[in-house]
Amino acid sequence: MNDFLKLESVSMHFPIRKFGKRVRYVHAMDDVSFSLKKGEVLSLVGESGSGKTTTARVIARVYTSTSGDVFVNGKTINRKMSKNELKEYRHRVQMIFQDPFSSLNPTKRVGSILSRPFILYKSMHNSKEMRQAEKDVLELVGIAPPELYLDKFPHELSGGQRQRVGIAKAISVEPDLILADEPTSMLDVSIRLSIMNTLLKLKEERNLSYLYITHDLAGARYVSNRIVVMYAGMIMEIGSAEDLIQHPLHPYTQLLKKAAPSPETGFNKKKLGYVGEVPSLISPPKGCRFSPRCPFAMEKCSKDTPLLYKMEGRKVRCFLYEKQN
Ligand SMILES: Nc1ncnc2c1ncn2[C@@H]1O[C@H](COP(=O)(O)OP(=O)(O)O)[C@@H](O)[C@H]1O
Ligand code: SF4
Ligand SMILES: [Mg+2]
Repeated sequence: MNDFLKLESVSMHFPIRKFGKRVRYVHAMDDVSFSLKKGEVLSLVGESGSGKTTTARVIARVYTSTSGDVFVNGKTINRKMSKNELKEYRHRVQMIFQDPFSSLNPTKRVGSILSRPFILYKSMHNSKEMRQAEKDVLELVGIAPPELYLDKFPHELSGGQRQRVGIAKAISVEPDLILADEPTSMLDVSIRLSIMNTLLKLKEERNLSYLYITHDLAGARYVSNRIVVMYAGMIMEIGSAEDLIQHPLHPYTQLLKKAAPSPETGFNKKKLGYVGEVPSLISPPKGCRFSPRCPFAMEKCSKDTPLLYKMEGRKVRCFLYEKQN
């Protein structure tokens, strides 16, 4: 299988300005490389502030990376694109957001929200045909009977239904790649699993690929084939979902595992609290970015930056695995 999406050493530094002058940079992504195959679900896991959303936005070309390259279907996206090319690209790569409330226009009815992508990307203007297409896509995401919901406003729906409308909006244009940015984290625990199942069903039916962003390792295990663990703007570990969770190699992945008891209960922030937080990315820690929190830190960990070492089908950015390479 060929790589559908490939990031090669991508960095994204946001300038911080004071009195209009650039003074410092937020190092939101540094040297990020990973790939995703067609039909694959790849989870990007890490605590808040790790650079996950920035990664999705670089892929969606909301931001142009500071350095490195992103390839989609073998073609770089870090080039000047005409308005039409950009429109076509954003058609193929769709985002699903964490907060379905803020991603749906509160003044528009569900039917009108869903009609926009059909008009924009499918040039569909026949109202009867469009109404049918809106109903079909609502049924696909598990909203039934659809005619009951087309005339409702987002605030008249439950959180889960709103997220389903968000998913419907994303898939309505038949994209190849979906960037799902914490799609269940604002929903009731009781409906998270059913939203994940809807996403998995759609993936099979439509041959989609997902970058599934979450801070919940157990949720990532449930939906994905492989997992990328990100911390403070850098990748710490990459591996198959099962291996990585059964035997986490990186001390940060081990910490995440401790904090994520099950897909139902999700992330346990309290358990993580006692070992600190993601550092400021304006001046990230020298050497290994995890060193201030790492129980295994050695002297060189705060001086040198470890590479991503290859370990039994895994990649791990940690000096503990340096000698075995
Ligand atoms: N547009 C921006 N300008 C400046 N800093 C940003 C911007 N977007 C994100 N950041 C910073 O980049 C870091 C990573 O953020 P983000 O990608 O949102 O992380 P995550 O999604 O893992 O919580 C944070 O320190 C955040 O404050
Ligand atoms: S490189 Fe050092 S500080 Fe970083 S995770 Fe490994 S042991 Fe811990
Ligand atoms: Mg985020």
